[in-house]
Amino acid sequence: MITRLLQLLDASPVNFLAVKTLETELQQAGFEPLDAAQPLGSMPQGRQFYVKKNDSSLYAFRIGRRPLSEAGFHIICAHCDSPTFRIKPNAEMTGEGGIVRLNTEVYGGPIMSTWFDRPLSLAGRVILRSSDPMRPQTRLLHVRRPLLQISNLAIHFNRQVNDGVKLSKQKDMLPLLGIVSEELERGQLLMNVITEELQVGAGDVLDFDLYLFDATPACTFGVHDEFISSGRLDDLSMVFAGLDALLMAGSRGEAETTQVLAIFDNEETGSQTKQGAGSPFLSSILQRIVSLQGGTGEDYFRAVEQAFMVSADNAHAWHPNYSEKYDPTNHPVLGGGPVIKFNAAQKYASDAASAAVFSELCRLAGVPCQRFVNHSDVAGGSTLGNILASSLPLRGVDMGNPILAMHSVRETGSVRDHEYCIRAFTQFYLS
Ligand code: CO
Repeated sequence: MITRLLQLLDASPVNFLAVKTLETELQQAGFEPLDAAQPLGSMPQGRQFYVKKNDSSLYAFRIGRRPLSEAGFHIICAHCDSPTFRIKPNAEMTGEGGIVRLNTEVYGGPIMSTWFDRPLSLAGRVILRSSDPMRPQTRLLHVRRPLLQISNLAIHFNRQVNDGVKLSKQKDMLPLLGIVSEELERGQLLMNVITEELQVGAGDVLDFDLYLFDATPACTFGVHDEFISSGRLDDLSMVFAGLDALLMAGSRGEAETTQVLAIFDNEETGSQTKQGAGSPFLSSILQRIVSLQGGTGEDYFRAVEQAFMVSADNAHAWHPNYSEKYDPTNHPVLGGGPVIKFNAAQKYASDAASAAVFSELCRLAGVPCQRFVNHSDVAGGSTLGNILASSLPLRGVDMGNPILAMHSVRETGSVRDHEYCIRAFTQFYLS
C-alpha cells in the first residue's frame, strides 16, 4: 500500500501531473471521461465517470442506488497543488561565463530554505499551436532527470548563516539551468529542453505553465520504515487516500449513496479560480447529475441538505523539537490516525455534530482518530471546507493526516496513518 503511494507521488510532481495520475488510475478502474462542455448523458445507478477543469482539477463520481434527494452525496475533497516555484516568462538570465539561471516566482507558501542544494526538475504543461487559435493543444511535461539546482552561498561569505537568513524571493531563489556551450544556445536553453522532451518545434510552443519540483524520489525511513519522506504530501497524500478509498468502495458491490471525489487546484493561493474550491464548477456538476436523473431544483436542494463532505487536507503533527508551539491538550501525533481540525473562528468546517460523524466512521473502520486545535497564540492555516461552503452549504468536517514540516520541499508523514485514512474514507463512502 505504501509503495503504491510513493509511486503515485513520484508520478505527480505538480498539479497537472497529479490530475493525469488520477485520470490514469480512474480509467483503469472503468471510470469514463466526460466533457463538461458536452451533454453528460444519462445517470443510471452504478455509472462511474469523471470530469476535469483546466487539466488541473478533477471530479470523480459513482452513482448510488438511493435517490439523491433522500441520500445526498458523499463527498471527499482535497487539493492537488503544493507550494513551489513557477517559471516566469522570458525566464533565462545569462551571466558571467555563460551561466544560465531561470527567473522564478513563488507559488503558495514554501519553506524556501528547504529548496536549496538539491537536484530539482521541471514539470507542468506546454501549450502548442493548433489549426484553431481558440483551442491550442496542451501537452504535459515531466522532465524526469535532475535539471536544476538552487545553490547556497558558501558559509565563508556568511558566517551568520546558522543564526537564520532572510531570503529574497527575487534574488536568492533562482535555479541554475546550465552553461551556454555555443552561441546558438544563448537564450534558448529552456526552450531546447521543452522541444526535446516533447519532440516538437520551437515555433509550435505558444506558452507554458512550468514549475520546479524535488527530483529525489519519495521514500520511507525510520527503524521500522514507519515514516514517509516526500514532497507534496500536503495534499497529495489525501488525494491518493481518497482515490484508493473510491476504488476500494467500488470493489465492495453496488454503491448505496452517490460517491464523489473532488480534487481542487489553487488551495495554496486562496482557491478563488475556476478550478479552485471557490468555483461553482462542482455545484453545477452536482446540479446536472440531479437533473439528468429527472430530478427538480427542489430535489437538488434536498440532495445538498442530505450530503456530507470530508474536506481532507493534512494537519500538523506534534513535533518533538518544538512542543511549545502546540496546544497543550490537542496535539496529534504521527501514527495516531486521521485528525479532525477545529477552530473557534470557523476557519475549519468541523463542529461537534460533523466531528461526531467522522469519529464514528473511524471507529466503525477500526481506525483511531485524533483532534487538532491551534495553540491559542498561533494563527494557523485555512483549507477547502469553508471556501466550498459559499457555493455548497454542506454539512462536513475538516480533517487530514498529521505531517511534520508542512510546506517544506520534503514533508514527513506516517505509513500507518495512510492505511488508516484509506480505511476511514472507504467506510465513509460505504455508509
Ligand atoms: Co493543504
